Amino acid sequence: MGGQKKKRHIPTTSHRNKTSQNGTMTASIIEQTNSVSSKDVPNGRSIVKNALFFLIGAVLMALLMPQIQNLINALRNNRSDNSQISHQLEIPKTDKNFSDNEIAVLKKSNETTDENNKKISKELMDFNATFLTKITPKKIFVDGRRIPPVELLPQKPNNSSVKVFLFEEFLSEAECDGLMSAHNKHVHDASNVDPILCFDSVSTLRQHLKEAGKQQVKVTPRDFTPGTTCVNATFSRQLKAWFRQNWSYSTAFYPGENRFSAVFAHRVQQAMGLIESNGGKFQITAYPEGVGENYCCTKLIQDCVVDGHDQRDRVATVLVYLQDVQEGGKTEFPARNLGETKKGRALLWNNMNENGKCEPMSIHNASKVVTGHKYILQRWYYYKSFYSLGKRPPEPELPARESGQSRVSCDEYDHGSCRWYDEWNYDHLIEYQRQKLTLI
Ligand SMILES: *[C@@H]1O[C@H](CO)[C@@H](O)[C@H](O)[C@H]1NC(C)=O
Ligand SMILES: *[C@@H]1O[C@H](CO)[C@@H](O)[C@H](O)[C@H]1NC(C)=O
Ligand SMILES: *[C@@H]1O[C@H](CO)[C@@H](O)[C@H](O)[C@H]1NC(C)=O
Ligand SMILES: *[C@@H]1O[C@H](CO)[C@@H](O)[C@H](O)[C@H]1NC(C)=O
Ligand SMILES: *[C@@H]1O[C@H](CO)[C@@H](O)[C@H](O)[C@H]1NC(C)=O
Ligand SMILES: *[C@@H]1O[C@H](CO)[C@@H](O)[C@H](O)[C@H]1NC(C)=O
Ligand SMILES: *[C@@H]1O[C@H](CO)[C@@H](O)[C@H](O)[C@H]1NC(C)=O
Ligand SMILES: *[C@@H]1O[C@H](CO)[C@@H](O)[C@H](O)[C@H]1NC(C)=O
Ligand SMILES: *[C@@H]1O[C@H](CO)[C@@H](O)[C@H](O)[C@H]1NC(C)=O
Repeated sequence: MGGQKKKRHIPTTSHRNKTSQNGTMTASIIEQTNSVSSKDVPNGRSIVKNALFFLIGAVLMALLMPQIQNLINALRNNRSDNSQISHQLEIPKTDKNFSDNEIAVLKKSNETTDENNKKISKELMDFNATFLTKITPKKIFVDGRRIPPVELLPQKPNNSSVKVFLFEEFLSEAECDGLMSAHNKHVHDASNVDPILCFDSVSTLRQHLKEAGKQQVKVTPRDFTPGTTCVNATFSRQLKAWFRQNWSYSTAFYPGENRFSAVFAHRVQQAMGLIESNGGKFQITAYPEGVGENYCCTKLIQDCVVDGHDQRDRVATVLVYLQDVQEGGKTEFPARNLGETKKGRALLWNNMNENGKCEPMSIHNASKVVTGHKYILQRWYYYKSFYSLGKRPPEPELPARESGQSRVSCDEYDHGSCRWYDEWNYDHLIEYQRQKLTLI
């Protein structure tokens, strides 16, 4: 813990690297989306204002970084610590329900005189969650394009509250192209360094070895870097060579990191009624030919936790196709025909109902791309907003890695998929999993 305290005011190397990585992504998105109409951007009528907006965003991010680091440090506290909190620390009387994470931060702030911690706890206390209970689609006009919502009704009547809407040409060709080339450039730059591979279990690793014809390679949990579910860089390089690497590639950016984020957020709010305060990060994913998440019909994607009690969950999903796909690659909902994967087309659906309950019927799957390349932009909106939502979290310290080294995450073998990410979250940290924390 002493070590963590020391770090508080000094952004770590990985933060600095992260910033420069974002810089690259940001710059190219800005370059590529010049055609975005400035009237889409609230108060952003000139390039000067846009530049200013970006600068302020960058400065804000720089300021936020050490504070978010505190949050993470607090999160790393033991559950045993947290459980004492409930009797030791009197939670201020507000109408808020503090999560374990938040309580850990508050407790931390009380046991130290650290100014930064005091500040973060004040921000947390002052944070007012907003609720996003419904989606309200309506027709918008963008650069002369008329974009009405089209509801996709289920083929059979159903009592499910899930609604799916489609918006043609929600993004222009130029916007799609800009996003794809920013993504490609970012992935290309990151490929100078081989990724670190992480598995949700040692049995998943074994299955992948078997699939690669390397069942003679015996692995045990000791092959994972301590505290993580990742193998070291040397072993990762070896596995990369053995595996077929039919991975999807995801890059992420956060609100305020580029001009496009504001343009998109504004357009979504106008057309879909999803408020910015409840929006998370933006994620671009590319699926090469032959790759689809959860192809098999038994493992589907559910964007929220069924029977979960936390309302800080994904109430709605916005998904935009950035490219036509010749064959396959469809997003499929039960008993709804969504048609082709068409460039610029946006899909909007709710995962939770108006009371904040996850709808089992929001389950869907992304089918395998048969021919062509699939690129999508996704953003998830949350029913109840929370302090760290939409803020780029600092990178975890583990595993030790090179600057800009990416991550490949392989799930339960049935999913059949490994996914490449340009950012690290905390899923590979054993302690984080053990505490079932969900900060991001
Ligand atoms: C968590 O608590 C256990 C004992 O309860 C201790 O051994 C361990 O070092 C603690 N871990 C951290 C990260 O503080
Ligand atoms: C806080 O939690 C209680 C029960 O866990 C619930 O009844 C109440 O509605 C919650 N309040 C808020 C503001 O979320
Ligand atoms: C901090 O501790 C004091 C007493 O030690 C207590 O009165 C106060 O409520 C605590 N602050 C918070 C934020 O819990
Ligand atoms: C949150 O709401 C309270 C009560 O309405 C208000 O006093 C406070 O300023 C709000 N906090 C922020 C950050 O807006
Ligand atoms: C709604 O659809 C699901 C899946 O197609 C089905 O299991 C369920 O029985 C349907 N409910 C009603 C009331 O039709
Ligand atoms: C819809 O119908 C199914 C089967 O009749 C039932 O299990 C489910 O609880 C219903 N859902 C809602 C939201 O009413
Ligand atoms: C990396 O991991 C492999 C497999 O566990 C191990 O054999 C090797 O010694 C490790 N290399 C380094 C440099 O730690
Ligand atoms: C992709 O990898 C999975 C296992 O990781 C395998 O089952 C599947 O056949 C592979 N697909 C292609 C097109 O290579
Ligand atoms: C998921 O994809 C598979 C394969 O295309 C299909 O059989 C299944 O019906 C799909 N499920 C849903 C919910 O669309």
